[in-house]
Amino acid sequence: MKHLAGKVLAVAGLLTLLGTFQHKAKAGGEDDDWSSTEQHRINVGFKIAPVPLNLRRKDREERDRIGLGSYLVNAVGGCNDCHTSPSYVPGGDPFMGQPKVVNAARYLAGGQQFGPFTSRNLTPENGLPAGRTFAQFKNIMRTGIDYDHLHPQMGPLLQVMPWPTYQDMTDRDLRAIYDYLSVIPPITPAS
Ligand code: HEC
Repeated sequence: MKHLAGKVLAVAGLLTLLGTFQHKAKAGGEDDDWSSTEQHRINVGFKIAPVPLNLRRKDREERDRIGLGSYLVNAVGGCNDCHTSPSYVPGGDPFMGQPKVVNAARYLAGGQQFGPFTSRNLTPENGLPAGRTFAQFKNIMRTGIDYDHLHPQMGPLLQVMPWPTYQDMTDRDLRAIYDYLSVIPPITPAS
């Protein structure tokens, strides 16, 4: 009996050791393991979202899309740099060499001026980002169409907004961005 207990302990110890090695190998090889890249981006997305997300009644798949969307908006797309005004809080401006603190109170609510053009409010209106359906949002990101025709003298297309770059994103990535923008806090324009 004593003998058996010793064996069990030895096997358990070996398994723990193996587990540790496996864990180390995975963490170290993260960049080489392409199959885990997506999950890693999802995790980073949730970590860097600068506002609380409304994840109530979201299933696992929806949450994954939201996490990926956060990654694409906050770590890749740079939406905050144009759609939040000002983008960073006083004392949290990375351009001044300060540790980055995104202006959560006005996050993606628009209002930044670019000459005659002003960035728009992307936060949810009745649960829809910028009040747009996914079909409309996709169309905006692919074609730059301005559904509000705010500057007909310039033509029907959004200016400044880098849609000529975003238009090459996959449907899946655009869906992820849309789902993320659907669960950030709604903010009405500053008066
Ligand atoms: C370089 C600045 C800049 C960046 C970066 C940027 N935008 Fe924009 N965006 C604008 C401006 C400016 C407008 C309005 C343009 C106009 O009035 O012609 C706009 C308009 C939009 C619109 C149209 C809104 C509506 O009500 O129809 C959407 C949607 C949008 N942006 C989404 C995004 C998303 C998502 C990102 C990040 C992936 C992003 N933008 C990044 C500047 C930017």
